[in-house]
Amino acid sequence: MNVTVVSGDLAGMETPLLVVPVFEGDAVDPAAAALDQALGGAIASVRARGDLRGKEGDALVLYPPADAVKAERVLLVGVGKADAVTAEKLRRAGGTAAKQASKLRASSATFALPDTSVSIGDAARAVAEGAVLGAYTFGELKSTPADQPTPVALADLRIVAGDGDRAAAEEGARVGDIVGRAANFARNLGNQPGNVATPSYLASTAEEIGERFGMTVTILGPAEMEAEGMGALLAVARGSDEEPRFIVIEHRGGAEGEKPLVLVGKGLTFDAGGISIKPAAGMEEMKFDMCGGAAVLGAMQAVGELGVKANVVAIVPSSENLLGGRAMKPGDIFRAASGKTIEVVNTDAEGRLILADALHYAKRFDPAAVVDAATLTGACVVALGHQASAVMGNDDALVEELRRAGDRTGERCWPLPMYDEYREQIRSDYADIKNSGGRPAGAIAAGWFLREFVDFPWAHLDVAGTAYGDGKLAYLTKGSTGTPTRLFVEWVLSRAG
Ligand code: BES
Ligand code: MN
Ligand code: ZN
Repeated sequence: MNVTVVSGDLAGMETPLLVVPVFEGDAVDPAAAALDQALGGAIASVRARGDLRGKEGDALVLYPPADAVKAERVLLVGVGKADAVTAEKLRRAGGTAAKQASKLRASSATFALPDTSVSIGDAARAVAEGAVLGAYTFGELKSTPADQPTPVALADLRIVAGDGDRAAAEEGARVGDIVGRAANFARNLGNQPGNVATPSYLASTAEEIGERFGMTVTILGPAEMEAEGMGALLAVARGSDEEPRFIVIEHRGGAEGEKPLVLVGKGLTFDAGGISIKPAAGMEEMKFDMCGGAAVLGAMQAVGELGVKANVVAIVPSSENLLGGRAMKPGDIFRAASGKTIEVVNTDAEGRLILADALHYAKRFDPAAVVDAATLTGACVVALGHQASAVMGNDDALVEELRRAGDRTGERCWPLPMYDEYREQIRSDYADIKNSGGRPAGAIAAGWFLREFVDFPWAHLDVAGTAYGDGKLAYLTKGSTGTPTRLFVEWVLSRAG
């Protein structure tokens, strides 16, 4: 999307679609009030009738009489009470604008930033991000019938800001566009079916990113994994004909010798559960089991485009988890790269196995901090639903950083406790640990398993309930959400200063 910042009075905006945020209650934005004068009080009148209350999610299109204003259409978008407007509400308004634009077949729109307590930079970023996210569709594998018009997506967004605010608005719009596209990039990977987005496909995607931004990419295949002693990752890959890949991208934007931030993402391209097979109903959703890895790749695209001045390393262990004559079996014991032995009591707890070898690999970078993201447990979905990812780790300050970054991006995460006693659940009678602690506190037991493989500041995001969904949010569509791409970028930016 081409995002630019313009200045001027709203009545004079020449555009197919002028988007005007409307507050709930009596407050009226001064710029919107001036526009309403030119419209002969049309906005005040739809509000007086109660046709538009300004509640979040409300949207109404007005067709101004010729010559009243320069815009062809005016889209009123509710953003809730004037004193309660947040970046997230503006992000959603941006999403609503993009979706309405597509419905109206308008490829260009002009968005009037309201005057609120959200800074101009943050507001422009949120609107741009929301519009880029809201304009996303995944139709590439559908044929368009000849008698159907080709869909139109918003391609050109103009954000209206005051003259004095232009620099801040432009910077915000630039970042919002980059971050939104990074999340869409991750959504695209997530939405691809398992027969397309294979481990090798993720690896070549990583290579493309590396080439575009001058990052070093290292791809390990089975032989190299063997040499690294990655018995846990290799155990998961045993049941599949599709070869596993271990993907590493290094962005060196910081000083030489500066400890890197490391992002790790589960890249399980299809999870059938293995011999501990999953039920058939809904199993197709397990193509989304690589969304943590996709978010890491999306975040690296943003890191490259933003030219982040920090060292950032991405690690994506990638495999399928299928069934076969050579597949790992319940009771099997494997040695992970760290040297620890793992009893596999449930082959469906495979994500933690591939992450174990990835987290151990991170140690060689002497990381400042490591954050992993994984669609790791159904238990996390039970605990938090689809409204927040779970966050846990060995460093309370890092967990709090992520929680705050989550609040700022709308990709929220909420801490789960890591009391020592939970560790008991993964004690094994036959090996150093076992890969499942049963049903109680399933998300935390998984976190404790990962913790066995780290000795650096680390946090884990369980995104099982947030990485994909029904697309009810204004800036989302059904399928992959891109979560936690934006949270990753926000956290990296907060660290990069
Ligand atoms: N990929 C699944 C977790 C998952 C479940 C993600 C639902 C998204 C939605 C993971 O590999 C898994 O199967 N976890 C098991 C662990 C159990 C066997 C200890 C689970 O949650 O049931
Ligand atoms: Mn599984
Ligand atoms: Zn899985």
